[in-house]
Amino acid sequence: MNILILGSGGREHAFAWKIAQSPHCDELYVAPGNAGTAQVATNLPISYNDFEAVAKAIVAHKIKLVIVGPEEPLVNGIVNFLKARPELARVKIVGPDQLGAQLEGSKDFSKNFMLKYGIPTASSRTFTVESLEEGLAYLDTHSLPVVLKADGLAAGKGVIIAETTAVAKTALNDMLVEAKFGAASSKVVIEQFLRGIELSVFVLTDGLNYKILPEAKDYKRIGERDTGPNTGGMGAVSPVVFADENFLKKVEQKIVKPTLRGLQEEKIHYVGFIFIGLMNVKGEPYVIEYNARMGDPETEVVLPRIQSDLVTLLLAAADQKLIDSDFVISNQTAVTTVIVSGGYPDDYEKGKKIAELERIEDVTVFHAGTTTNGDGEVLTNGGRVLALTALANSLEGAVNKSQKAAAAVQFEGKYYRKDIGLDLIRYND
Ligand code: AMP
Ligand code: GLY
Repeated sequence: MNILILGSGGREHAFAWKIAQSPHCDELYVAPGNAGTAQVATNLPISYNDFEAVAKAIVAHKIKLVIVGPEEPLVNGIVNFLKARPELARVKIVGPDQLGAQLEGSKDFSKNFMLKYGIPTASSRTFTVESLEEGLAYLDTHSLPVVLKADGLAAGKGVIIAETTAVAKTALNDMLVEAKFGAASSKVVIEQFLRGIELSVFVLTDGLNYKILPEAKDYKRIGERDTGPNTGGMGAVSPVVFADENFLKKVEQKIVKPTLRGLQEEKIHYVGFIFIGLMNVKGEPYVIEYNARMGDPETEVVLPRIQSDLVTLLLAAADQKLIDSDFVISNQTAVTTVIVSGGYPDDYEKGKKIAELERIEDVTVFHAGTTTNGDGEVLTNGGRVLALTALANSLEGAVNKSQKAAAAVQFEGKYYRKDIGLDLIRYND
């Protein structure tokens, strides 16, 4: 069958890489894709935010299965849009509808959902500009640090961890009154700070049944030892040593099952991935956030560990038959190191020629922000440029291979973190 992936990052290249290996995949398309997806699929020069163009491409290329990579089109209702088109009635789509995507699109919605279904999370209250005074008074009595979250999508920038009440009050004012994140901060969730270690668990669901995918740890900050501003993610590791069987059982019982029950009771028909950002607080899992999609760069370590055919799994999810599907996960450790453009996450230059790519060995090279010029050369085209994933029998082995490859890639201004996975190696000791 013909398959379309929407998106253009490392996550979408990893999906394309895995799907291209499936015997069920005939023609594979990615919209808009990058230089890496072009190696395994046909890129379509359309924006995933142009729903009409996506619908036309599905018809033109006889697509039978669509995978929506990023959150923006999901939160904006691409699934509802496509499902409402009679000519697309038989197309299977992996991704939640607009209501399901509210798990990510509204922190207030997801907090209420967790409260209603008894899912462990930080205690919180939501404020609007009308309740600003109450919010400021609430901050006076709140423990420190305190966490403030813009309700809507804010490109990963909507969370502020305030160490003092004064900083928290300024942040609340900036978000509600000054509309710092536009409409996304017309509501603000104020929540308790959770102390622990973070990790993410991923679920593929057909709305009733589910498969728990390999868990992963992401490295969000730009600087080594988790310093400096947040990024989209500078690297990832799977499995995560401190997520032992006992902990993952708790995640399934206390979080995954009640989440699925809640979706059913709310009559949200959810087909797709649920990315559960968790804090391990002294061995107990708490939800920090839900995302309605896979993570990037987590996908670049999760998919390489799935040995089963991904297309079979995705079709089973779309057909509500996930219960019957084979699901085999490799015991190997996957580590990805993300190479970024100098300056990222602030301003950076694009269009730098990437050298030595073809000489990189022992890793899978996932492209994120790349493009090609008229001579077929690969150029940087974004903040995050490449994700280099290594698989090995040990964490140390995978870290070494990924880092060696990261050192070998050359482009002007290149930067990467040299400490991906090192905290987990120390955790083992
Ligand atoms: P989010 O955008 O919800 O992923 O939040 C960004 C980051 O802020 C998370 O990855 C955590 O590191 C941190 N964070 C969010 N909520 C909390 C919390 N309640 N306690 C501690 N850290 C948090
Ligand atoms: N790496 C975090 C995310 O995809 O949201």
